[in-house]
Amino acid sequence: MKMNAWAAVLLWVSGSLMVMGASAQTRVDFGKRQYDANCAVCHGPTGKGDGIYVDLLKRPTSDLTTMARRNGGVFPVAWAFEVIDGTAGSGHGTRDMPIWGDEFRVQAEAAVEANYSAFYVRGRILALVEYLNRLQAR
Ligand code: HEC
Repeated sequence: MKMNAWAAVLLWVSGSLMVMGASAQTRVDFGKRQYDANCAVCHGPTGKGDGIYVDLLKRPTSDLTTMARRNGGVFPVAWAFEVIDGTAGSGHGTRDMPIWGDEFRVQAEAAVEANYSAFYVRGRILALVEYLNRLQAR
């Protein structure tokens, strides 16, 4: 049976609103939750590079809280996005930083329809970028 497209859109919107409503109530910080689960092992709970894996890395992690300061006071949004996504950084193969764009894509394709995975990956990376912006030393 073919589902009416509008019914599908409505279902999706109401589902999203329910999720957003639940988040507002329980104050889920998606960026922080992802950071704590995926990034803190290397970058440390505060972003300053005090993670438990630091001794295993070939080169030290950068201090994520000074990204804005090192860029003339402006948080480098595009750079942060590309380093996390894997399109920028120290080059294929040699970088210690995992390619999160690929990792999230694999998770997305396992969880939802492939068509949505690009949006899903971008959303997760943007939540991380927004969280890093809040970590900036002012
Ligand atoms: C396995 C260790 C490791 C993990 C896990 C890790 N990183 Fe990194 N990250 C690094 C290293 C090392 C660098 C320094 C550049 C390089 O060598 O690739 C770096 C660099 C960065 C930079 C560039 C900082 C700058 O000053 O320009 C950003 C942004 C960043 N990481 C964000 C993240 C986010 C967000 C996550 C979690 C989704 C994460 N990292 C997880 C090791 C890691």
